[in-house]
Amino acid sequence: MKTKKILVVDDEPSMRIALSESLESCGYQVETSESGTDALAKFEEGKFEVVITDMRMPGMGGMEVLRGIKEISSKTPVVVITAYGTVNTAVEAMKEGAADFIMKPFSVDHLESLVKKVVAEKNGKDEVGSEHDSKGCLSKEKTIITRDEAMLALLELLKGVSKSNSSILIQGESGTGKELVARYIHRHSDRANMSFVGVNCAAIPGNLLESEMFGHEKGAFTGASRRRLGKFETAAGGTLLLDEISEMDIQLQAKLLRVIQESEVDRLGGVAPVPVDVRIIATTNADLKKYIEEKKFRDDLYYRLNVIPVRIPPLRERKGDIVCLCEYFLEKYSLLSRIARPGLSKEAAEMLGNHRWPGNVRELENVMERAVLLSGGGTIQPEHLYLENESERNRQPAGAAFELAALKNVTLKEVEKRLILETLKKAEGNRTRTAEILDVSVRTIRNKLNEYKQRAEAS
Ligand SMILES: Nc1ncnc2c1ncn2[C@@H]1O[C@H](COP(=O)(O)OP(=O)(O)OP(=O)(O)O)[C@@H](O)[C@H]1O
Ligand SMILES: [Mg+2]
Repeated sequence: MKTKKILVVDDEPSMRIALSESLESCGYQVETSESGTDALAKFEEGKFEVVITDMRMPGMGGMEVLRGIKEISSKTPVVVITAYGTVNTAVEAMKEGAADFIMKPFSVDHLESLVKKVVAEKNGKDEVGSEHDSKGCLSKEKTIITRDEAMLALLELLKGVSKSNSSILIQGESGTGKELVARYIHRHSDRANMSFVGVNCAAIPGNLLESEMFGHEKGAFTGASRRRLGKFETAAGGTLLLDEISEMDIQLQAKLLRVIQESEVDRLGGVAPVPVDVRIIATTNADLKKYIEEKKFRDDLYYRLNVIPVRIPPLRERKGDIVCLCEYFLEKYSLLSRIARPGLSKEAAEMLGNHRWPGNVRELENVMERAVLLSGGGTIQPEHLYLENESERNRQPAGAAFELAALKNVTLKEVEKRLILETLKKAEGNRTRTAEILDVSVRTIRNKLNEYKQRAEAS
C-alpha cells in the first residue's frame, strides 16, 4: 500500500517534532510547515491525504489555513489542533469544514485513531461503523452507526444505487435517520462534489414553498425586488432533499412532477423554463399510501419518486443498535461537554434495551446527551435516563405529575431544572414542544440547558 502523506502545520518546533514522530510511527509520511503561508504553498505542490494544523499561529492562523486548503481541494480533510479551553474555536472550525479537531494535550493513540478515521471517511469507508471505530472522534459529516443486519444490507444496497440518477423515497418514523441516509446516498454518488440542498416541505407555507423550490424573477409578485434562484437551481448537478414531502400542497405536487419529468424548472414570473440536472431524494414519516387514498398525495408523483423505495426500520426493530448507538453518543457528548466519559450501569443498560423508543435514534441521542450531563462523569444510573415505563407514559405536561412532596429542601432553581428536564423527556427531547408546554420561548429552554451543561462541567 502506498504510504499516505500528511501535512502538519504548527509554529512550535516541539509540536512539529512530536506530531511527525507519532504519525510516522503509525506508518504515515509526514511533511511539516512552520507557517500557514508555507503550508499552503507546500499543499499546492504535493498530494496530501490529510492536513493537521494548529489554530493559533502568528501570521496566518489555522482558520485561514483551513479555508485555503478547502479552496484548493475541498475533499482533503483538515484536522485542527486546539488548546484546552478553546472548544469554541474548534466548533467554528468544524462549521468551516474541518473534518475534526483534537485538543492539546492528546495521546498518540487518540491522534492515530483520529487520523485513521478521517482518512477512512475521505475514502468513503466510514459510514458503517461500530462504537469502536468512532472512539474519540467527532466528525462533521455524521457517521451512520449500526450493527443491524437489515440496516447494513440496506446501506450496501444504497451504495450501488447511489450512482444512478433515479429518485429515491426514504420512508421511516421520525428520528430514524432519514436525512442521514439521504446524505449517505449523496456522498456515494457521482454528485458527491456538488451541493446537497435540503428543503423542508413542512416548514415552509405552500405559497412560499413554490418560489423557494423553483425561484422567481424580479417583479414576479409584490415584494419580489430581485431575481432569486430556487433550490432546484442551487442544487444543480447535485442532490435535492425534499424533506417531509407528504406535506407539500397538492397543486405544487403537480408542478414538482412536471419538473422531475422534464428536468426543467419554471421560475415564478419567468418566460422560459430553465434546464436543471438534479437528483431528488424525498423523505416522509407519513403513510403515503394512505395520503393517496385520502387524495392528499398524487399517486403519479408517488410512483415517480418511489423508483427506489427505502424503508428505515424503527429503533425498536433493531434492538442490537441500541448498545452501539449509546456508546457512540456517550463518547460524543462527553467529548463535547468535556466531561469524563461516564460508564453505563447494568440497570441503566437494561432500561435502555427495554424502552420502545417512539422518537427513535433522535430520542436516544437526547437521552444520552442529558444522561452524560446528569451523571457528571460518574456512572450513568437509571435515574439519569429519565425514562419511565411505557405504561406510565402520559402526554400531560410534566407539571401535572410533578410531585412537590418529593422536592423537600430543594431550591427554586432545582425545581425549575427538574421541571424542564422532565418536560423535555415527555416531549421526547423536542425542545420546541417543551417550550410550548411550559409556555416559554425555545430560546429560554436552550439557554437553560446550556446553563445546566456548564454547571455540570464546572462541578
Ligand atoms: N444510525 C445512526 N447513527 C448515528 N446517528 C444517528 C443514526 N440515526 C440517526 N442518527 C441521529 O439522530 C438524529 C435524527 O436523525 P435524522 O434527522 O436523520 O432523522 P429523520 O428520520 O430525518 O427524522 P425526522 O423524520 O424527524 O426528520 C440526528 O441527530 C442523527 O444524526
Ligand atoms: Mg429529517
